[in-house]
Amino acid sequence: MSNDQILKNTNAQILDEFNASIMFDKELYAQDIKGSIAHSQMLCEQGVLTKDEQEAIESGLLQVKEEIESGNFEFTLETEDIHMAVESRLTEIIGEPGKKLHTARSRNDQVATDFRLYVQEKSLSIKSQLKELIKVFVEVANKHTTTLIPGMTHLQHAQPLNFGYHLLAYANMFKRDYERFESSYERNNYSPLGSAALAGTPHNINRESTSQKLGFKSPTTHAMDTVSDRDFALEILFNISTSMMHISRISEELVTWSSYEFQFVRMSDEYATTSSIMPQKKNPDVPELLRGKTGRVYGNLISLLTVMKGLPLAYNKDTQEDKEGVFDSVKTIEISLSILTEVIRTMIVNVDKMENACKIGHLTATDLADFLVQKQNMPFRTAYYITKDVVAYANSLNKDISELTIDEIRNANEQLKDVSEELVMYLDLRNSMNARNSFGGTSTLQTVEQIKVFEEWLNN
Ligand code: ARG
Repeated sequence: MSNDQILKNTNAQILDEFNASIMFDKELYAQDIKGSIAHSQMLCEQGVLTKDEQEAIESGLLQVKEEIESGNFEFTLETEDIHMAVESRLTEIIGEPGKKLHTARSRNDQVATDFRLYVQEKSLSIKSQLKELIKVFVEVANKHTTTLIPGMTHLQHAQPLNFGYHLLAYANMFKRDYERFESSYERNNYSPLGSAALAGTPHNINRESTSQKLGFKSPTTHAMDTVSDRDFALEILFNISTSMMHISRISEELVTWSSYEFQFVRMSDEYATTSSIMPQKKNPDVPELLRGKTGRVYGNLISLLTVMKGLPLAYNKDTQEDKEGVFDSVKTIEISLSILTEVIRTMIVNVDKMENACKIGHLTATDLADFLVQKQNMPFRTAYYITKDVVAYANSLNKDISELTIDEIRNANEQLKDVSEELVMYLDLRNSMNARNSFGGTSTLQTVEQIKVFEEWLNN
């Protein structure tokens, strides 16, 4: 072989590799075969394939599936993608009828169908994982409806909460995530198959029939739109990104809560790792990784948005870049959800540490001001400044405002010298938490109500 020839062959090899998607879209083999079986059955119903041909195709496709699943299928670059790979192996097995399978179909509607089936299946399975996670949040919350924890704004102590209430904030976020996957599922539950290359087909097909066989609600309504858009894939990427953002936020709290300074929770030993150099350490690697993996999931969303933004209608090969990011994001959220569920289920809550932390930072200062407004008819701003004096006085005694006696309070400011003794009750941490009994508030009563609503939802 001449040098020129060798160079040409090498270039051809590089181009094959560049062009092919088989090494990653083989992930779609099951959807591809499912779609092909439905297509062949429809073609037979329409009289395009004979019964014998259809039966040969179907059993051939099942054999291909078997070969892939048992690891006996050789994926090569020559069959550029999963669609070509399955079809050519089918024809190897059954001969002539295999060549008829692609009648009235293009790889453009085929890939749109495969990928949509994948996204729909994953939306359902991620939804059920989210439900499991929510269930665990609710179970743990139910054990801690009276456990006090300092509620924070700006990561500064603000007002006392119960820990169950804090956890239910996450249950709410993950429930909205669940609903996002659900509504995306509904919006995208239409069958691309039969759109053909971009304009439909002159063959006498029945798209309603393939749609039904594949479990879609009905066929999509515009062939060109269907083969060219990937917004269904963008939706799952966004839905995953939002869930990962929520996963990342609870992970951040777990990192903080398990720090030496907080010690609110201890993660079960499987989820904390030791340091290779510092023998005393227990590191929260797992929540850190959950937080970190959120970055790549965002990347996948931005990446596909960018791929799509300048594409003229209809199909363009750029679109082949839609898959790897989705596969990666799906795998990332699947593992993240199952790990987070176990972390929350098994975390050890240090009730004493949480409750003691509430005695730092005068969490009931607002209650004092509110008391003066409600019981003494004081303007809020006046009450606010009086409260500041009490806080300063408590600091001088090295006490938290919730620990002051009535005499100490009366000493703190001239205008409090006759204040009623019941004020002490209002400054109590638990009373303060329970006083926030407005709908959606932190009181134990409200929290228990919210848990009931969740339990009802979970049981449906
Ligand atoms: N492998 C391609 C993809 O993933 C399949 C569709 C190819 N269609 C085409 N006309 N080249 O998008």
